[in-house]
Amino acid sequence: MDLPTPLRRVFAAMPDATLGAFAPGRVNLIGEHTDYSGLPVLPFALPFGVAIAARPRHDDLVCLRHLEPDRFAAAVIPRAELANRPRTGTWVDYVVAGLRCQPPANGVDLLLGADLPIAAGLSSSAALVCAAALLFAPRDVDRLHLAEQCAAAERYVGTEAGGMDQAAALLGQPGHALFLHFRPLRATAVPLPHSAAVVVADSGVRAEKGGVLQAAYNERVHQCRRAASLLGAPAGGLLGDVPTSQWAASAALADPLLRRRAGFVFAEAARTSAAVAALRQGDLPELGRLLTSSHRGLTDDYEVGHPAVDALVRAAHAAGAFGARIVGAGFGGSAIALGTRETAAAIAAAMRAAGAGSTFVAEPSAGACRVAGPDAAPNAG
Ligand code: GLA
Repeated sequence: MDLPTPLRRVFAAMPDATLGAFAPGRVNLIGEHTDYSGLPVLPFALPFGVAIAARPRHDDLVCLRHLEPDRFAAAVIPRAELANRPRTGTWVDYVVAGLRCQPPANGVDLLLGADLPIAAGLSSSAALVCAAALLFAPRDVDRLHLAEQCAAAERYVGTEAGGMDQAAALLGQPGHALFLHFRPLRATAVPLPHSAAVVVADSGVRAEKGGVLQAAYNERVHQCRRAASLLGAPAGGLLGDVPTSQWAASAALADPLLRRRAGFVFAEAARTSAAVAALRQGDLPELGRLLTSSHRGLTDDYEVGHPAVDALVRAAHAAGAFGARIVGAGFGGSAIALGTRETAAAIAAAMRAAGAGSTFVAEPSAGACRVAGPDAAPNAG
C-alpha cells in the first residue's frame, strides 16, 4: 500500500513509531450549510490530509509534537486530564477531541504532520480529529458511528458544526462523492463521471473555524434553529424536520433575515438531491448550474461569501467552467470549479491569475486509514 505523504513524513521522523493514522481533508461538491439543519450534503475526501505517528511511553503522559513546531507548539497532557481539559484555542484542542472518542490505553508520544492547507475551507480541523480518533480505535470500529462521535467531540472547540467533514474524512471512497444524510448518519457513494474535473483554488483568505469566524458560523446555526421552530419543527428540531411540503412556507417567515436563511437552506437541500441526479446522468452542465446557484445563495442570502473568492468564481466562469462556488464554511477559504479533464488546466490558470495562491484538481480519494508503524510487530495496526 502506498502511504499518504504526511504519514511517510511522520514515520521518517519517528522511526520507532508502532502505529500511524491518516485522515484526509474534503471538498464539498454541494450541500453547504445544510448539515447542521439535518439536511444532506455531497462531499468527497481529498488525497491530502493529516497524519499522526504514535509510540508508547512508559508513563501516563500524552506528548504532542508537530513536524512544524514553529507554527504548532508542542503540548504535554496527563492522560487522565484528556476528558476534562479546558480548550486552548490551538490545534491541540482538535487532537484532544479525537482522542476523547478513542483514548490511548497508556502514555504515548504523538507526532503530527499535514499536507493540507489550514483554514482553506478543506476541513483540516476535522482531519486532525479523525486521525486522532482512528489511532486507537478497535480494528473493526463502525466508521459511521465513529464519524458521529468525532463530530460531537469536535464541538468542544466551540463551533456548533454539523457532521459532514468527519463523515467525508472517515468514509471517503476513491472516485466517488458521498451523498450523506444525518440523524443517523447514512452514506451513499455516487461515482464522479470520469470526464469531470473539480478544480480547487485557495483564495489565501484564511477562514479559521476556531477563530473570529466561529461567532458568525454559530449565528447562522442559531438562525436556522429559530426558523425551524417558527416553521413548526418539534421542540429542539431542525429545518430538516420541517416537511418538504412546508418548505414554501419559509417565504411567510416574518423576519426577513430568517426568511432568507431558511430559504437558502431549503433551496440548497433541493440542489443537493438534484446534483446527485445530475452526477448519475453524467450531466456536467446541469451540475455546474447547481454549483453556481449555490454560490449565489451562499453569497447573497446566507452571507458567507468573500470578494476574493468571488473573483475566483468569476474567473472560472470566464475560462469555461460549467459552474463554480465558494466551498466549506465560507468567509474566505477556497472556491471549487467544475470543468472537464481537458478544460481543468485553463480554469486553474485563470483562477491563479485572479488571485488564487494555489490550485489543484481534486481526485475523490479513500477515507482515513490506520497502519502499523515502521517499528511495529508484524500484523499490528
Ligand atoms: C464547516 C462545518 C461543516 C459544514 C460546513 C458548511 O466545514 O464543519 O459541518 O457546516 O462548514 O457546509
